[in-house]
Amino acid sequence: MSEDVGFINMTAAKSEGEAPEIGVGMLGYAFMGKAHSNALIKLPYMMYPPVAKPVLAAIAGRNEEAVKEAAKRYGFKKYYTDWHDLIEDDSVQVFDNGGPNDAHAEPCIAAAQAGKHVFCEKPLGRTAEESKTMLDAVEKAGVKHMVAFNYRFVPAIVLAKNLIASGKLGRIYHFRAVYLQEWIMDPNFPKVWRLDKAITGSGALGDIGAHIIDLARFLVGEPTRVMGMAKTFIDERPLADGSGDRGKVDVDDAFTSLFEFENGALGTLEASRFAAGRKNYNSFEINGEHGTIQFNLERLNELNVFWNNDEPKETQGFHNVLVSESYHPYWKNWWPQGHIIGWEHTFVHEFHHFFDAIVNGAPIAPYGATFEDGYRNSVICDAILESSRSGKISDIWY
Ligand SMILES: NC(=O)c1ccc[n+]([C@@H]2O[C@H](COP(=O)([O-])OP(=O)(O)OC[C@H]3O[C@@H](n4cnc5c(N)ncnc54)[C@H](O)[C@@H]3O)[C@@H](O)[C@H]2O)c1
Repeated sequence: MSEDVGFINMTAAKSEGEAPEIGVGMLGYAFMGKAHSNALIKLPYMMYPPVAKPVLAAIAGRNEEAVKEAAKRYGFKKYYTDWHDLIEDDSVQVFDNGGPNDAHAEPCIAAAQAGKHVFCEKPLGRTAEESKTMLDAVEKAGVKHMVAFNYRFVPAIVLAKNLIASGKLGRIYHFRAVYLQEWIMDPNFPKVWRLDKAITGSGALGDIGAHIIDLARFLVGEPTRVMGMAKTFIDERPLADGSGDRGKVDVDDAFTSLFEFENGALGTLEASRFAAGRKNYNSFEINGEHGTIQFNLERLNELNVFWNNDEPKETQGFHNVLVSESYHPYWKNWWPQGHIIGWEHTFVHEFHHFFDAIVNGAPIAPYGATFEDGYRNSVICDAILESSRSGKISDIWY
């Protein structure tokens, strides 16, 4: 069908009138600041017609020279060296928090109280208790809220979710996920903020484990019990300030865990920053009654599937779907089939989803993660750490 062919329909969308402008105020201008800015700039011409035109209203950071440079680089109209000023700015309707984990709660709560819609990076808070205060604040303020679990916006993962929801996989037996990196294996790698409990909350668990915990809930459902084991391999490192002093690492370098889900499925989830050779290996396999689905972020345009009842039997086996057709999730906004997209595009989809909720009242859940999802994620992270400490299974209560 020609209407299914990206070469034909790529530029077919027509806008009907002007989309409303939404002023975005951003905290943080490093890794996530760059990824979010990039997505906000692309959004109105790629997700066309746009639900909203984001205006890069203001950006906040602590260092004037650096935040001024970031504003210039990404195209923000103003910059502030104190996030309180950003939140008081009337040109800001959406507060986008890309700061480290200890800078999530207070600014997000203040933004909600000031009536701003809140978009926050993951993990929501450093603990379930902190995340709950954030959830309560956005609910009380009645603003829209979303946690940036961006892997929910990978087209192949949305396809996996839709296959599961349609019953194609049947009953789910197993969810097996790993998120593996290697970047802190050198014992002389400094104690950056991600290794400092006061700032980060937990280590590999809250940083990358939180992503696969979110995918477990997104794809399979709620866990009822978890068992965890967390470990710090290098417990002292040079401080990041270059002083030559050394500091204790008080967060996990890795964790492994067992999950039991409400629907009876079993899960194993593991994350580590000590997996030599693994750069950003976020991979899961789901075994169901009628087949298996397998995904790996480092090949994010692909989904491997196996169906028990594939015919002919002689050629049955896993097959690889290149998720890039215009009828695949989000793909009609991008390129002709096979002209693949990358990690950064998940943020474009994610902001589009958030703005659709603000402008049109579209639901954030179940495709997007709300602060309720962020809170539940934190409960599970805490339960894994508690199980690791006690050696006992932790029940999950929200
Ligand atoms: N969704 C994802 O895939 C993903 C990937 C990486 C990081 N993250 C999350 O994004 C957040 C930021 O991580 P990052 O990798 O961008 O960190 P980063 O260290 O690269 O950037 C943090 C930014 O916040 C600024 N900052 C620090 N403390 C601040 C304060 N008190 N007030 C104002 N600004 C402050 C820093 O100057 C810097 O610009 C974290 O919560 C992290 O978990 C999410």
